[in-house]
Amino acid sequence: MAAFDDLTTTLGALEKRRLYRRRRVIGSPTGREVVVNGRALLNFCSNDYLGLAADPRVGAAFKAGVDRWGAGTGASHLVSGHTAAHEELEEALADFTGRPRVLLFGSGYAANVGTINALLGPGDHVFEDRLNHASLLDGGWLSRAHFNWFAHSEVSDLEARLADCASSTRRKLIVSDGTFSMDGDLCRLTELVATARRHSAWLMIDDAHGCGVHGTAGCGVVEPVAQGLDDVPVLVGTLGKAFGTAGAFVAGSEALIETLIQRARNYIYTTALPSAVAVATLESLRIARTEEWRRDRLRDLVARFRAGATQLGLRLLPSPTPIQPLVIGESGAALALSAALESSGLLVPAIRPPTVPAGTARLRVTFSALHELADVDRLLEALEQASPA
Ligand SMILES: Cc1ncc(COP(=O)(O)O)c(C=O)c1O
Repeated sequence: MAAFDDLTTTLGALEKRRLYRRRRVIGSPTGREVVVNGRALLNFCSNDYLGLAADPRVGAAFKAGVDRWGAGTGASHLVSGHTAAHEELEEALADFTGRPRVLLFGSGYAANVGTINALLGPGDHVFEDRLNHASLLDGGWLSRAHFNWFAHSEVSDLEARLADCASSTRRKLIVSDGTFSMDGDLCRLTELVATARRHSAWLMIDDAHGCGVHGTAGCGVVEPVAQGLDDVPVLVGTLGKAFGTAGAFVAGSEALIETLIQRARNYIYTTALPSAVAVATLESLRIARTEEWRRDRLRDLVARFRAGATQLGLRLLPSPTPIQPLVIGESGAALALSAALESSGLLVPAIRPPTVPAGTARLRVTFSALHELADVDRLLEALEQASPA
């Protein structure tokens, strides 16, 4: 058998287990609706929570950014790719997060892997929530630090694992999603902060799905006035979700950011984001901080959905956020429900293992400030018709 001939067999096995993934080709900007195969579908699956990805003001800023800076940067930040536009966005994000410094990364995935690996190495200890995003887990595994997986949001389990290495003088880093990406619940921030303090560990919070979406002026789960640098020394946010553009940032102390500049391989060895993305993000950050109605709208949509879903007897997770998953269980059943919704004109793809734990395939319903309450009613009606009795 020639090398790699087993690929087809492996792909066939994925198909049999209903775990094969296919991309849809989208024929429109992302928004309340998206066009798939020439048909407009109500979109309940994007992370464009504030509805800014196709906002004309953000688009105009992007175009102005291209006019001013061109399409690309041509080099990494440390060579000649770091422009005044990146610098201005870093300063604006530092102000937003209440941190002394911020560093931009090309993506949230890169920020997480790069940061954890810049901070930890063999002999150190990393403690990760079981439901952390793949990029946080990959960062921990790649660092070759002792890897500790604690039960989801079970701070007592985390405590026990920290106690097991109490005698170690090596670095300890606790890592958690701020707003859990697939369940929509919030981390137990106050308890995590207290636990980190008790064990002289650092706390890293990745609030990719909370930044812009909840908290004061959209700051997310980490409130700058309540949780300072000593509480959450490493804060990560992404720009491709609520801010509607692309990229990510790490916020923290001067020493943290300088360490990342010297040591984070995912920062050093990659081309800087186009400056136009930074210009567009400055505009979306301005909108996100000032247009409170977008967060109010999200709260109303979530309340309407949760009330209606409860009436229908659908099982909800304890999520106060625009991520409202309906856990189905088996992948085949989740795919079938998603297909039924799609035939009613609604796009809610099934999320299956390994993105979520085995046996918890789901429809990850997400809301955007662009949705109307009537859209939620349409979703509930379609769910009522399509759900197995
Ligand atoms: C919690 C979390 N962190 C990081 C990322 C990755 O961000 P990006 O899409 O910018 O790579 C995601 C993306 O889905 C996420 O859910």
